[in-house]
Amino acid sequence: MLKLGIIGTNWITQQFVEAAAASKEYELTSVYSRHEESGKAFADKNGGQVYTDLDKFFNDGDFDVVYIASPNSLHFAQTLKAIDAGKQIIVEKPIVSNPDEFAQMKAALAEHPEIHVFEAARHIHEHNFRAIRKQLASMETISGATLTYMKYSSRYDEYLAGKDPNVFTTTFSGGALQDLGVYVVYDAVTWFGKPNRVHYYATPLRTGADGKGVAVLGYDGFDVTLNIGKNTNSYLPSEIYGVKDTIVMDNAAELTSVIYHAADGSTKRISEEPDDNPMIAEAKDFATVINDPKNPDNVRHYQTWLHLSEIVNSVLFDLRRKASIVFPADNK
Ligand SMILES: NC(=O)c1ccc[n+]([C@@H]2O[C@H](COP(=O)([O-])OP(=O)(O)OC[C@H]3O[C@@H](n4cnc5c(N)ncnc54)[C@H](OP(=O)(O)O)[C@@H]3O)[C@@H](O)[C@H]2O)c1
Repeated sequence: MLKLGIIGTNWITQQFVEAAAASKEYELTSVYSRHEESGKAFADKNGGQVYTDLDKFFNDGDFDVVYIASPNSLHFAQTLKAIDAGKQIIVEKPIVSNPDEFAQMKAALAEHPEIHVFEAARHIHEHNFRAIRKQLASMETISGATLTYMKYSSRYDEYLAGKDPNVFTTTFSGGALQDLGVYVVYDAVTWFGKPNRVHYYATPLRTGADGKGVAVLGYDGFDVTLNIGKNTNSYLPSEIYGVKDTIVMDNAAELTSVIYHAADGSTKRISEEPDDNPMIAEAKDFATVINDPKNPDNVRHYQTWLHLSEIVNSVLFDLRRKASIVFPADNK
């Protein structure tokens, strides 16, 4: 059983802790919160010793793996601290703010080869994501894709009320591209590889972060269009085009229903009913690698995930640059 420490006490940490428990691979032992009260409320419900000092959490906390679910701009420094402390690391998407931070993180990892850093890109670990990959392998030609992930954020109410919630600020490396676009960039990079060229037509908020936008990723012979947003809801399905055949997903980041429409007009469901908690698959995958790190399959999986993280990080950065979105983290 892996001992788990957590950073951040919002709903996503609750969901991860429940997924970790459902996987039967982790036991929550340590909780970091900036405030005794929120840490205690989380620990009362889920267990664990509470720390309000981050260094004490890393130095004294009895845990093997840390799950980092703080605002995006803090991931980098907290990941470096965790590497130094010899902890295995699961860090929420988007892993770090830019390629420079990614390179520094990789350099720190090279000094600690026993440590793994996993980006919690939950959907790529799910069965339905792999089913799409398998279907793509049997399609002779790819002619493009339109992938949509637009979900109205409850935090947008606060933004409209004149506040600056973390996720809608450049200070915390937020915005629609970082928060939701990361999922569809993961889709495109995993399914089609690194794009040759990118564009991002962003709709900026008063904070300078993007509220929504349309990205185009260019590949040899086809383009992929990404519709992303946090200040509106879209109910559009997503599609990957063959020649006469098409894969249709109900949602490119929450893959519940995936149908293959063959060239002859027949259809085949390639999705399965997903887990109730979409983080169980990743929690299991990460535990498999941590528990048997030298197993060649595990080594390969880990290297694939880290490589994917790095490409996604660089594509997000290139997209941001096209839209002139700059984070304070870019100028450090
Ligand atoms: N995988 C998914 O489906 C999913 C879903 C939602 C979010 N996420 C990711 O999870 C991460 C957290 O997102 P969130 O929306 O929960 O963010 P958030 O509410 O802004 O912050 C998360 C936690 O970080 C701490 N925190 C907040 N502001 C802080 C500050 N100024 N300085 C230091 N710590 C601060 C708080 O914990 P304490 O008060 O206890 O210190 C808070 O509960 C992000 O990276 C996001 O992309 C992933």
